[in-house]
Amino acid sequence: MKTRVAIIGAGPAGLLLAHLLSAKGIDVVVLERRSREHCESRVRAGVLEQGTVDTLVEAGLGERMLAEGHVHHGIELRFGGAGHRIAFEDLVPGRAITVYGQQEVVKDLIAANLAAGVDLRFDVDDVAIGGLDRPHLTFGGQRLDCDFIAGCDGFHGISRAAVAAHLDVFEKTYPFAWLGVLADVAPSAPELIYAASERGFSLHSMRSDSVSRFYLQVPPDTRPEDWSEDAIWAELKARHETVPGFTLATGPITQVDVAAMRSFVAEPMRVGPLLLAGDAAHIVPPTGAKGLNLAVADVRVLARALGEHYRSGSDELLDAYSATCLRRVWRAQHFSWWMTTLLHRFESDDYDRRLQRSHLDYVARSRAQATALAENYVGLPYDD
Ligand code: APR
Ligand code: PHB
Repeated sequence: MKTRVAIIGAGPAGLLLAHLLSAKGIDVVVLERRSREHCESRVRAGVLEQGTVDTLVEAGLGERMLAEGHVHHGIELRFGGAGHRIAFEDLVPGRAITVYGQQEVVKDLIAANLAAGVDLRFDVDDVAIGGLDRPHLTFGGQRLDCDFIAGCDGFHGISRAAVAAHLDVFEKTYPFAWLGVLADVAPSAPELIYAASERGFSLHSMRSDSVSRFYLQVPPDTRPEDWSEDAIWAELKARHETVPGFTLATGPITQVDVAAMRSFVAEPMRVGPLLLAGDAAHIVPPTGAKGLNLAVADVRVLARALGEHYRSGSDELLDAYSATCLRRVWRAQHFSWWMTTLLHRFESDDYDRRLQRSHLDYVARSRAQATALAENYVGLPYDD
């Protein structure tokens, strides 16, 4: 078999890349280890930056997202017994976030790729990178020759590992995890609430008018079964009901998961014909909701660079791929680390705790600080 771009992984990165390249008439094959059902049901952060929304709309993927997603013009930071709204409409006019589940984005991408006749293969669990001199993959006893390999196979994939000797890795882990909770209950507030309580961080988010999503800061070795439904609601209430008049509505919990908190970057994002994109190249803690948005930003740059390669033969954009992406990646690394250290409870000394409180207070009172948070949260403009 032969194709121009062999894409490993059908997460948001691989699927959007396949869609954008095939729209330019560039042949691709996508190989995914898991089933379609699995890919379409993974629950992850559901906050889309303005640029992500614009990119998906431009690519003809906006119909359901615009109809079913909810546009939010602010978020609340809750600490010290009060809520402080970061008002996007005032601080970053014209830019907002759209709350739309990541698995919905994935469903839309899979449907669009299949409708366009893209060669999308699920349940392929033995993909190997055969070589980079004459780039090819092997799977299921077959050989797939290609010009480029797009490593869109997430943090635990094979692509980054195949070129590990060529990469520098920068990494930070945090001394806690997030317990994620999905519940059949209407959101208790119209916008997201980032609560820095004395008991630890907690987030109130949502998926629809009748489904809420919550996160609790928990010890890193926590397992979902360690938490009963009652214990989850008690802790969510204790961390959120810290302002007068706020009551957290409860309902049946439908899913509980634990996510590790990690910052990670591998550089460069290109080694010869192998191009890394999304979680395969970098991870952020979910506090800033940047993971999916960074994957989309990478793929935008990559699709344009590969388009130029096949259209004009120029490799200028391809040669700049890694540096172009890493500028945005490191901005998001800093923002995600900043939000994480600002809002979580650390086993730190009293001095550090006082500093953290002073910083939160500064964000709540200073327009300059609030604007810095807002412009990063809704997403800085793309370089192109
Ligand atoms: N062969 C084929 N597919 C693989 C392999 C492999 N060896 N290893 C991993 N995969 C697949 C995974 O099953 C997954 O479907 O690659 C896909 C990677 O998708 P994601 O993990 O969603 O990563 P990405 O597309 O970069 O999306 C980034 O996802 O993890 C979230 O928070 C993150 O929102 C961010 C977004
Ligand atoms: C979510 O809704 O899943 C979500 C929202 C904001 C975050 C992380 C996750 O920062």
